Amino acid sequence: MPDQPRVLIDEERIAARITELGKEIRAVYGDETVVCVGILKGSFLFMADLIRKIEGPVQCAFLGVASYEGTKSTGVVRITHDTRLKLEEHHVLVVEDIVDTGLTLDYILRILGQRKLKSLRVCALLDKPSRRKTEVLVDFVGFEIPPEFVIGYGLDLDEYWRNLPYVGIYDG
Ligand code: IMP
Repeated sequence: MPDQPRVLIDEERIAARITELGKEIRAVYGDETVVCVGILKGSFLFMADLIRKIEGPVQCAFLGVASYEGTKSTGVVRITHDTRLKLEEHHVLVVEDIVDTGLTLDYILRILGQRKLKSLRVCALLDKPSRRKTEVLVDFVGFEIPPEFVIGYGLDLDEYWRNLPYVGIYDG
């Protein structure tokens, strides 16, 4: 394992931005129910903090996908856990940790787009727009970051570092 990572976004900035995101999200949906679909595993901390900042009716589901090995995208996306919640006729908000090439999100949106949803939007804590390989619309973005591999606050490197309370840069 590498030495302690460099801080990119500290705990206070993460918390402050999530409070803003919660308000932005609620403003879009009015008083309607929002079904937050967290993409496992990376989004689990973000999801837990975000839903507590979206006031009013919220439901939670999780979709498990695997796409990375080490610091490289394998380019192959696999579903490892399905939502187990009726999404049809609901407003669905996909909650992602990070959008990098956009391939994972593109795949998820195509799968969810086949269901009869009231609406489909995306909230990502982190966005690396310069790394995109496919165009995907991210409706709510926490932070745009440079094209570096980041860890912490749910994001991993080979399953380590998810427990870091901040987002750090892996210099390995
Ligand atoms: P994409 O398909 O390239 O957009 O990658 C999406 C997924 O890859 C994210 O949901 C993360 O799980 C993972 N990922 C992408 N970039 C990073 C990173 O910098 N650190 C950790 N995981 C990442």
